Amino acid sequence: MTGAAASAGLVVASIRSHQADHVLTSGAGPVRLTWTLRSTDRPAAPQLAYEMEAVATDGSERRWTSGEVSGDAQVAVTAPDGPLDSREIRSYRVRVRSTAGWSGWSDTVRVEAGLLDAADWVGDAITLPADPGSTTPSPSPMLRQRFVVDRPVRRARLYVTSYGLHRITIDGSSVTGDLLGPGWTPYGKRILAETYDVTELLGVGEHVVGAVLGDGWYRGRLGWERETARSTYGTQLALLAQLELTHDDGTKSIVATDGSWRASTGAIRRADLYDGCDIDLRRAQADWDRPGFDPSTWRSVAVVPLDTSLIEPRVAPPVRVIASLACMITPLAVGRGWRLDAGQNVTGWVRIRVRGSTDATVTVRHAEVLEPDGSLHTRSLRSAKATDTYVLAGSDPVVLEPSFTFHGFRYAVIRGDIELLDVSVVAISSVDEPRSRFACSDPMLERLHENVVWSLRDNFVSVPSDCPQRDERLGWTGDAQAFAATASLLVDSQAFWSSWLRDLELEQDPVLGVSTVVPDVVVSGEPRYGRAGWSDAATIVPAAVYEAYGDPEILRAQLPSMRAHVDSLDARRGSDGLLPEAFQFGDWLDPDAPSDRPWLAKADGRYIANAFLVHSARLTGTAARVLGRPDVAEPYEHLATEVAAATWTTWAEHAVTNQTGCAVALELGIAPDAERPRVGEALAALVREADGRVATGFLGTPLVLPALSAAGRFDAAYLMLLRRQVPSWLYQVAAGATTVWERWDAIRPDGSIHDGRMRPFPDDAEDADGNMLSFNHYAYGAVVDWIYRHVAGIAPASPGYRSIKIAPRPVEGLDRAEASVVTPYGQAGISWAVGSDGLRIELVVPVGTSAVLDLPVSPDSVVTLDGDPLAGTVIDAGRHDLLVTNPRIVPHREAAAPSADTAQPANAGARGAIEAW
Ligand code: BGC
Repeated sequence: MTGAAASAGLVVASIRSHQADHVLTSGAGPVRLTWTLRSTDRPAAPQLAYEMEAVATDGSERRWTSGEVSGDAQVAVTAPDGPLDSREIRSYRVRVRSTAGWSGWSDTVRVEAGLLDAADWVGDAITLPADPGSTTPSPSPMLRQRFVVDRPVRRARLYVTSYGLHRITIDGSSVTGDLLGPGWTPYGKRILAETYDVTELLGVGEHVVGAVLGDGWYRGRLGWERETARSTYGTQLALLAQLELTHDDGTKSIVATDGSWRASTGAIRRADLYDGCDIDLRRAQADWDRPGFDPSTWRSVAVVPLDTSLIEPRVAPPVRVIASLACMITPLAVGRGWRLDAGQNVTGWVRIRVRGSTDATVTVRHAEVLEPDGSLHTRSLRSAKATDTYVLAGSDPVVLEPSFTFHGFRYAVIRGDIELLDVSVVAISSVDEPRSRFACSDPMLERLHENVVWSLRDNFVSVPSDCPQRDERLGWTGDAQAFAATASLLVDSQAFWSSWLRDLELEQDPVLGVSTVVPDVVVSGEPRYGRAGWSDAATIVPAAVYEAYGDPEILRAQLPSMRAHVDSLDARRGSDGLLPEAFQFGDWLDPDAPSDRPWLAKADGRYIANAFLVHSARLTGTAARVLGRPDVAEPYEHLATEVAAATWTTWAEHAVTNQTGCAVALELGIAPDAERPRVGEALAALVREADGRVATGFLGTPLVLPALSAAGRFDAAYLMLLRRQVPSWLYQVAAGATTVWERWDAIRPDGSIHDGRMRPFPDDAEDADGNMLSFNHYAYGAVVDWIYRHVAGIAPASPGYRSIKIAPRPVEGLDRAEASVVTPYGQAGISWAVGSDGLRIELVVPVGTSAVLDLPVSPDSVVTLDGDPLAGTVIDAGRHDLLVTNPRIVPHREAAAPSADTAQPANAGARGAIEAW
């Protein structure tokens, strides 16, 4: 075991811990390590054993080893050292053994724990005294403290949390590029703390730590029912910060928030997530957060009670700037300002550089699309003002951008008596680097993929939200479950989901079940607990995350919530063994439902409810088995079987009358095996009869193409996927969409915009009471998962892609596709092209995985692998070339297009160059 020399065979190419990128410190619990391998041999020798080592960095010489552990585990393997204490830093490495002997040791990966105990927090939470913001939108509190560092600093950490949002500086320099910290959680149950490395900022001498607070989700507007209501979580903002210095001589000192800090207000006159930000530069206090400033007019802070036992380190990635987009600027009529087109619907804000004079006012109003006359379409913002306002304080050029807000927009109108010197659009998101890539010979499909990626970025802002533009932006569970698999494929969202699922569990009512929004802020209105396909996020999201990343921790953490969800539904079953009639969102926004009552879908709500109960019960059983708990699994499996049978008996005939009914029967395992071919054919017939017209809403859409492919009806699946008339995915693309719309016909073929009218629900009152229209809802983007699986032909065949399914299904008219996915084992990829010799496929299969082939062969096909006849269906890691002669190509003809159904590119505009992503 010792004396490991780098030998032929395996090399540990990379090692990482379970922590997300851009997060400095970990939470409680043991460290999990994942490593990738490279092989100098072909085929790669398998990993037979590994050894992990952990080393303390506190000079104590403590060292832990796993010893030699037989096996091929290399994903989310629990490190041998046990959990870290608060502030502790340890480093980890691994080596592996193959038949060629031991590899050398890997690089090391470092893990640092945040503050894990309530008692670690020594200060008081503080705020502006008598803050008028407790009753009305008001200036942002500014807080400052001067301190002196009298001996050199080896290490400095700033631990910080807040009620409301915070921005922190040391001597005027931002300590972080993170935005909207500490993010949105149910603050009364869980508050997140961030850790920043500020060592570089703290030389010997005088310093100032400064903070500005914003209302954010804590105290700002939340939810459409509360046009004027604020303060969902509390009336007092607060900052709790702790700067811990470790000096070169080993001593420590702490600067923490307490009653000796000073408070004031400045340029930010108000800031709200929905309404925007008002900045008056005449009120700015220059250099207030630097040494030398005279704070004698500042007041003593007020202390705010904050329960430190609710604080835990934030493990989800922070919201950050992810791109800066150049825009097209069009001057409007004299005095009416300029219109900006970012070329892309984003979440973020406009940054402008202007020159004007003291007292000049500048406004920036945002919108997702334009009205046919070129003006901003603001109806879909509902009551969100989405307007940033600035008042200038001089004639020098100045850069203007808002704080503590974000807008969902592609267009903006800038007004003011100013010279506009420079404009860019800042896009923000909690997710950053893509995990996967897709390309093909159809630019429309490529654009659809890109639109889905943008809807993901735009809606992953601290929580998975429905839309970024209107007075909503909530963590709708139905949208999340529909999109979880796709999101997990497109970006590394493991930590993001696990954090949100913690909140889902905290908000889960033991009797009523899971809410429709998490964090749960909709306090009245429609029934919101235990709604089919919404509350099932409790089971569907953990299962999707496990499949994407192969780390069972998500199942371990969520199993109690999964069980409680199913138990609460189980308790509602009636004497017929089925869930009773109740309001359901159901197949929400089925294009055949009345557009002002989107819950009146073709698929029966009670059928859907029982089918999702079956699905959730099954997923819970599977999770329990993965975790080695067959005793827990059995009752859920039994429940699933029983409810599936009763559901099929009751709704078998209804199910085959509509696309969602069939898709649910097949994909949620309701139709008995013997009936599946009949249901598959019924679905294909419905789709073909409708010329591929999408006839599904939020719940059916993610299932319909998988159901068709499971039934072997790729002809019908492609008819639907490639259709360009409304309603369809590519119709939106043809209409100039740059994100995924909430309604299939948000912009009509004649260029008019859907009125979005909604009746109060669930009752049937005549008057429209609201408006529901967004151009940035990701639920229908779930189709991208299918595109990877079947157009490109790459999918996990087992959790975390340990086994990779390669199953491309070329279709007439598409002669090339490629996709890659960064799996936990390394990058996997496929690239295929149809040519005169047949279907050529290039594969990259990472070491530690294998590929299972399911190729589109015809009776005349000959298949070669790397030049030799293919034997078997499983191939080893490595780069491979496959050739399939006479491949089976899915027949396709374009759906006949009544011309009125074809989209006008009403909002296509000019696409701005994306400078950075
Ligand atoms: C949201 C949806 C959500 C639905 C359910 C809408 O307002 O935007 O995405 O799932 O309501 O009622």
